[in-house]
Amino acid sequence: MSRRARPAAGPVAFTVNGRPVEVDRHPMTRLLDVLREDLGLTGTKEGCGEGECGACTVLLDGRPVCSCLVPLAHARGGAVLTIEGLGGDHPLQRAFVAEGGVQCGACTPGMIVAALALPRTADRERVRRGLAGNLCRCTGYEAIYRAVRRAAHEAADGEAGGAAEHSP
Ligand code: FES
Ligand code: FES
Repeated sequence: MSRRARPAAGPVAFTVNGRPVEVDRHPMTRLLDVLREDLGLTGTKEGCGEGECGACTVLLDGRPVCSCLVPLAHARGGAVLTIEGLGGDHPLQRAFVAEGGVQCGACTPGMIVAALALPRTADRERVRRGLAGNLCRCTGYEAIYRAVRRAAHEAADGEAGGAAEHSP
């Protein structure tokens, strides 16, 4: 008879937005609930609760995940990034506002966090594919794709300017 591996009991330690945390809840508790209820990080939204809408997207060790599907145990020892980790004045956040990529805002935290994982060089099609798991009922998506590309261009311009400033 085969035995299933059980998640280790006891508090689960990981980092959220660079800060070490330890959470003592059942290891199968959804990461989404831990973030919102235990850690007070309500920027991460719940939409479908079934892995279909992307509203709950966070980065876990640099990869976008639906936090409604991730058990707390899977975060053990990992690094979670939520929308709060961007601080409010991140180039992506500014670009979403500038391009009209935010309307009701329900999808926005998940969209922006998912966009963080895209390569800077992503063209519209790559952005579209990269955000295909994030649903938006309001914007028609084009403003969101423009915002992601605008942020990438601004970041590249900033780096080029910085390099020029520092060049002899
Ligand atoms: Fe997690 Fe919809 S709430 S994917
Ligand atoms: Fe409303 Fe995207 S802005 S769901």
